[in-house]
Amino acid sequence: MKVTVVGAGYVGLTAAACLCHSGHEVSCIEKDQIKLAGLRSGRLPFFEEGLPELVHAGLAKGALRFGASLKEGLDAEVLMVAVGTPARPDGRIDLTQIYAVLADLVEQARSPLLIAMKSTVPPGFGLSVEQRFLQKAAVPLGYVANPEFLREGTAVRDWFQPDRIIIGGSDEEVIAKMARLYADLKAPLLTMDIGSAEMVKYAANAFLATKISFINEIANLCELVGADILPVARAVGLDRRIGGQFLAAGLGYGGSCFPKDTSALDFVSACNGYAFNLLKAVIEVNNRQRLLVLRKLKKALGRLTGITVGVLGLAFKPGTDDVRESPALDVINLLLDEGACVRAYDPLALPKAGDFLPASVFLAGGALDAAAGCHALLVVTEWPEFIDLDWMRVKQLMCPPYLVLDGRNCLPAEELKKNGFLYLGIGRARYA
Ligand code: UDX
Repeated sequence: MKVTVVGAGYVGLTAAACLCHSGHEVSCIEKDQIKLAGLRSGRLPFFEEGLPELVHAGLAKGALRFGASLKEGLDAEVLMVAVGTPARPDGRIDLTQIYAVLADLVEQARSPLLIAMKSTVPPGFGLSVEQRFLQKAAVPLGYVANPEFLREGTAVRDWFQPDRIIIGGSDEEVIAKMARLYADLKAPLLTMDIGSAEMVKYAANAFLATKISFINEIANLCELVGADILPVARAVGLDRRIGGQFLAAGLGYGGSCFPKDTSALDFVSACNGYAFNLLKAVIEVNNRQRLLVLRKLKKALGRLTGITVGVLGLAFKPGTDDVRESPALDVINLLLDEGACVRAYDPLALPKAGDFLPASVFLAGGALDAAAGCHALLVVTEWPEFIDLDWMRVKQLMCPPYLVLDGRNCLPAEELKKNGFLYLGIGRARYA
C-alpha cells in the first residue's frame, strides 16, 4: 500500500521505517529542514536500536522517501499523523501541530484518503474531527484512531511484536484497509469506537504509571518496617493476575509519555467534572520519589554543601538518548540548589542533556571520570555499563565515605558493601 507518515519523531520515523520493511511504499513528511536533510542522507535525529538499519534499507530500495510538505504525500491510501503533542504547563495537550496537519489536508487533498491518528490525543478528540475538518474537504476523507504503544529503546521490536492493534472507527471498509496495513503483524486486532480507542492509550499508560508509583510506595514502606522491596516485588509479580513487569522500584518514571499522559488524563477528568484521585496520587508519588535522593544523601553525609556527587545516567531510561522528564535532570538541579558539585555521565544522552543542564555541571567523558573525586556516586539510569563497572577502580578514584546511592536497585549491593562502599538502595531496609 502507499502510505504517508507525517512527522519523523520517535513514533513517526519508527512507523515509516517499519511499514516500509513490511512491504509498503512510504513517504515520511518532516518540516524541520535540518532533520529532513539528515534523514535523506540516512542520519537519524535520535538513537533507537535497529531503526537506522531499517531506514537505510528503505532508502536503498527506494521504498522510503522523505519529503518537506504534505503535498508530497497526498497520493497515499493511508496518511498516518504522528506529529508532536507536547504538554502545556496546566497538563493540557497542545494540539496545534495536529490541527495544522488536518487543516492542510482538508485544503489540499484531491483524492480520497484515510487519516490514521497515531499521535496521542485526548479521549473525545476524534469525535470532533469529522465536523470540524473532514466535512469541509472537497474529497471523502476517512478517520481512524490508531494509538501506538512503542517504548523508546525497543520501538522496532514493539512495532513488529505488538500485544494488540487498536483501530478506533466504525466503517467496515476503513477497518479492512487498516487490517491490510498491518497484515503481517501477528496480534489481536481490536476494533472499537474512536473515543474508546483514544482512551485505551491513556488507560494503559496511566495503569503502568500506577504500577510504578504503587511499588515505589511499597518500597518506601519496606524501609520503614525492615523489609526488602526486591524479594517483595518479585513474589508479588509472580502472581499472574499482577504480572512482574513495571514493578521495579526506584526514582520513578520519566520520559515523553507517562508524565505527559497522566497529567493530560487528570486534566480531561477535571474538565469532565471528575476527580481522578488515584491518578493524582500516582503523579504526586512519582514527583516525590525523586526527592528521596536528597533525603538519603543528607542523612548519610550530614550536608551537601561542598560535597561532590557523580551522577551516572541522564537518559530517562537505558537504551535511549532521550532526557525528557528524566529524573536525573531534576535530581541534579536539587543537588546544585543544596550547594553540591555535580559530575555527570551518560553513555548516549550527554549531548541532549547538556542543553538542559547548568554550565556548572561537569560533563564527564566516562563513568570513571564522573566518579573521580566524588564523595557520593548516584545511579539514576540502570545502563548495563554501570552494572559492569570496575568498582574497585571506582573506589580508588572516589573519596570517603565512598557512598553509592543506587537509585534503580541495579548494582550488587552486598559485593559493594564488602568492598568498602557505603551502599544505599531504594526500599531495602538493610541498605537504607
Ligand atoms: C511508555 C509506554 O511503555 C509505551 O507503551 C508508550 O507508548 C510510551 O510510553 P517509554 O516512555 O518509552 O514507553 O518507557 P517505559 O519503558 O514504559 O518506561 C517509562 C518510565 O518508567 C522510565 O522512566 C522507566 O525508568 C520507568 N520505570 C519502568 C520504572 O521506574 N519502573 C519500572 O518497573 C518500569
